[in-house]
This record gives sequence, structure tokens and C-alpha cells, in this order.
Amino acid sequence: MCGIVGYTGRHSATEHLIEGLRRLEYRGYDSAGIALGTPKKLFVEKRAGKLINLENSLGKAIPDAHSGIGHTRWATHGGPSDKNAHPHCDNEGKLAVIHNGIIENYAELRSDLESRGHTFDSETDTESVAHLLSELHKGHKGDLASAMREAVALLRGSFTLLAIHSDNPEVIVGVRRNSPLVVGLGEGENFLASDVSAFIEYTKRAVALGQDEVVTITPSSVSITDLKGRDLAFKEYEITWDSKAAEKGGFTHFMLKEIFEQPKAIADTLLGRLGDKNQIVLDELHLTKEEIKGLAKIVVLACGTAYHAGLVAKYAIEKWAKIPVEVELASEFRYRDPIIDKQTLVIAISQSGETMDTLMALRYAKAQGARVLAVCNTNSSTIPRESDAVLYTHAGPEIAVASTKAFLTQLIAVYVIGLYLAQVRGVMSGDDIRKIFNEMDELPAKVEQILETVEPLRELTRSFSQSTSVLFLGRHIGFPVALEGALKLKELAYMHAEGFAGGELKHGPIALIEEGTPVIAILPFGHEYSLDEKMLSNIQEVKARGAKVIVIAQEDIVVQGADHVIRIPGAPALLQAVLATVPLQVFAYEMAIARGNDVDQPRNLAKSVTVE
Ligand code: F6R
Repeated sequence: MCGIVGYTGRHSATEHLIEGLRRLEYRGYDSAGIALGTPKKLFVEKRAGKLINLENSLGKAIPDAHSGIGHTRWATHGGPSDKNAHPHCDNEGKLAVIHNGIIENYAELRSDLESRGHTFDSETDTESVAHLLSELHKGHKGDLASAMREAVALLRGSFTLLAIHSDNPEVIVGVRRNSPLVVGLGEGENFLASDVSAFIEYTKRAVALGQDEVVTITPSSVSITDLKGRDLAFKEYEITWDSKAAEKGGFTHFMLKEIFEQPKAIADTLLGRLGDKNQIVLDELHLTKEEIKGLAKIVVLACGTAYHAGLVAKYAIEKWAKIPVEVELASEFRYRDPIIDKQTLVIAISQSGETMDTLMALRYAKAQGARVLAVCNTNSSTIPRESDAVLYTHAGPEIAVASTKAFLTQLIAVYVIGLYLAQVRGVMSGDDIRKIFNEMDELPAKVEQILETVEPLRELTRSFSQSTSVLFLGRHIGFPVALEGALKLKELAYMHAEGFAGGELKHGPIALIEEGTPVIAILPFGHEYSLDEKMLSNIQEVKARGAKVIVIAQEDIVVQGADHVIRIPGAPALLQAVLATVPLQVFAYEMAIARGNDVDQPRNLAKSVTVE
């Protein structure tokens, strides 16, 4: 969702802001704008559409400024247009604000401000903040940080806000409540941004701003206060991601690059998880043996793709650790009365660590006494910071909006959790645990093998590019994989796609099958559960009604009746979720290309969903 950048230093603010916005493009947006810290009146330019529209309208007549704020907007209040794009200014054009989140009481604020003579230019919730801050700024004798603290007390909702004023243009003030904001510490320059990718090229030193904290940056200083104005000490951390990792590296799209990075991402996430006594290592959990033995249940909270990883977690943890697992969409969880207590372990899965629904659900769970373990890919993001423990996945920066490598590493993380809990509870033998871990160690090479043989799948995909609907069928872990395959296709190809449990087919979905409907059947699981026979019957059922069937199957399974068979290497059933997903990612990617869609930034989507 909205991307935010602030820069103050010695260099060209325009260059730093545009470059920062380019690196935040992956978050998803529909308009972009900048405000430059020019004296007397700020220079503001904003345009609907892609960043290139803003760059074109900036042309060459850009004032020489060394500070400014920039924004990519994902529309909530008011459609994507030049006027609704950020920054928003006060009536004198001296103060500008950018915002990520939602100001819930904007209508009240707006009518109060209008009654006091402010005129509005847009339909956004954000513009109210610009006018409000402008009034308060005068009352606080030009102290922008004090004005911001007072403004925040009057706002309801979630927000990251940055503000700049032409009276003191080298000062940028930011605040965050429930939306992300990080500070980049440079030499003679400082940055503010939604995430570190905006400034990673210039500095590796960062500070994550806490909830309700107000930050002021100048070229030579950074200060952070609470909402009462009390100075807060802050801790910097080093960004371990390489700026190269956030570039395409010769691939046509970030998504393709990320698909091919999966073997490494899995290997990195597994690194150090098997100790020298051949035991699973998960020191991050910080639970005693007694606490683990006393766990009554596990609740997994997540959204979208991460939720699908949660569904796989249920299969793995229940089988290995013998603890009941519930998996819940984070957005639903806190709006019922879930039964959780001190004996509940909540696992919050999130690539970005900023998903608002997951964050709110984990806060709710914590308030009920549950212990929260985050599985997260983004260092120092909000979800791990608010959790009791965190298991980081090591996928590296995921730039494409559609999640690929993060998903596979989430699967690895939940397998590690399952095996660790089984080990501590003593419900699986050390030999069995090690055997599974060794099989996990082979997954990077197996994913590599799949990626080496995807060429025929590419052509096959294109032959289905005019279909209107694609159905995915799976049983056991094939079911969450089917859901994930369908989600990827919806996101990227803008096609109707649905995943079903094979057993549900005859309870309704079979009515969707028409002559030529593509059905992808996920049939990966060796002979462990004898489910391949059942899936083969499902294949016959859809075939008999005219479907074109593509089967994803483990090497040694005899498949009859399919139109196409995509082979994947053998592995224990539970681990097959990793392997069976890969062809579906490639399928969705190729379909997006065939249909001429924007692969890395699909329409209407945002990478980091920071509003509920
Ligand atoms: C799908 C996708 C989304 C995310 C979801 C949760 O490709 O990327 O469905 O999985 O928005 O995001 P995180 O994992 O950042 O909480």
C-alpha cells in the first residue's frame, strides 16, 4: 500500500525521492507525488498513474532542493486522480503532508476546518490533516513536531504521516500509529520511509519507529519523542539485505527472479536448524519444556498466501507434534469470540510483518493471554516487534506483489516449528525427526530440478490463456496448494480461479465444469495416504464432463486420463506442499505474461496491506 519517503541532506532531494519511490513501487500504487522543501512555498507535483507520469510532468524545471517528501498512493478515500494524489497542502502551500493508513474521523475534521475557512482540494481523508496541522503549526510557533503531537491526539485511525514546512524546509517530521515507518541514518543526510528498501542504497543503518512515536529529522540529527514530547532513546540496527537483492538481476520480472531464488531461500531458512546433536534448534521460541508440554492448542493467524502456509501448518503440526491446530483468517479472528488463553500458542505468519489484519489479531490474542510467535520475513517490522518470539524466514526482500519465495520459506518455518514441538513433547523419535529434516534439506535441490524442467509448462500455460475460469483440485496438503495456485492465478492473470478439496467436488463445484474448462489436479503425495487413487477418480469425474486436466504428480505415480502431466520429485507427503506449489507459480506467471498483465504490480493489489 502507500509508500512514503522523506529525505533531508546535501544531495538532490528529487533524485532521492524518485529513486526511493521507485523502490517502493512494489507495494502497489495508483498515483505518485513529491513536495520539495523550497523556501516561502513548497514545490509540489503529483500525478495519477505510474511514477513515470510524475517524472514526465516534473520535466527539467525542478527547483534545487535538498529536502522533501514523496508518496505513492493506493487509493482508499477518493479515486486515483491528480488531485487526490499526495502530498496534500494547506491553503498557503507552505505545509505538505503524506499519509499511509486511514483517518477515520476525517469527515468531522473536514467540516470543522471548513467552518473555519479552510478550502479543500481533494476527496481524501489526508487533506484534513494538512489543514489541521497548518493551524496547529501556527499555534506552536512553527514547531512542527509539537504541532504533529497535538494533531495526532485529534486523529482516529491508523496512519504514518510525514510533514514538511517551507519556513524550516530541512526539517521533516513523521509519526506512526499502526502503520510502518523506519528511519535511515546517513552521513550528513537522513531518511524516513515505509520500509528500508527506499534508502538501502544509501545507508544500511536503520531505526524502526515505535507505535505513537514522533520523529524529527534534519541533515545532521534524528530525535524521537513520545506523544507527550518526552525524548526517547532509540536503537539502530543494521540492514542485512543487499541493495542488489532488491533489483531484478537480469530477470524480466521480480516475480520470476524470486521464483528462481527459492532454492536458496529454503536453504537459508533451514540453516542452523539442525544442532550438533542432530536435534531441531528453535531457541527463538523462548518456551520452557513444561510450557510446550502444557500447550492446549495452537492458533495460526494470517492472511492470503500466508494463510495457506498456515493451513499446511495444521497438517504438519497435528501429525508430528500432536497438538490441535486451528487456522484462522486474521481478519475474521477478532470479530468473533475466539477461545484462547495462556495455554494457547498463537503463530502469526506474515511476510511483511505489517499486515494490519494480522497485527490487530495478534494484539487481540495477546490481550487474551496467549503467547505469540511471529513467522516473518522482514526484520524489525511491527508484527515481530509486538510478538513474544519470532522465527525469521530468510527469503530476502520480496518485491513482486505476488508472494512466492516467502510462501515456501513460511512452509519451511512451520515444518521446523512442528518438528521442534514434536521433539520437546517427546511424541516423535529423534530418528524420525532427523529423517524428515534430512528430507527437508533435499528440498532446495528438488525445487531447482523443477525449475530446470518448467519449459513445457510455459507453452502449455499459453494454450489456456483465453480460458475464463481455471479450477484447482487437491486433497490433504494438495488442498492448501490448490488454494494457493488459484490465488496466484487470480492475482496475476485476473482470471476466475478457485481451489477445492477433491472430496468437495461432488458437493457443488463440479457444476462449474464445462467443455474445455482447465482443471489443475494436485496429486503429489506418494502412497502415504492412498489419496492418489481418490484424486485419480476426481480426475475421471471432471474429464467425463469435458474438463482439460493438468495433473501435478510425484514422479512414480501412474496417472491415467490426464491431458497433461507435470512431474515433481518425490518427497514425504507433508513436504510436497513446497514442491507442488512451484509449477503453479510458474503457471500463474506465464498466464500473466500471455494475457499482457503487469506481473510485478498486478492491478488493485498492494504488497503490504497496512489498512484493515
Ligand atoms: C498473495 C499475497 C498476499 C499476502 C497477504 C499477507 O500473493 O502476497 O495474499 O500473502 O497480503 O501478507 P503478509 O504475509 O505480508 O502478511
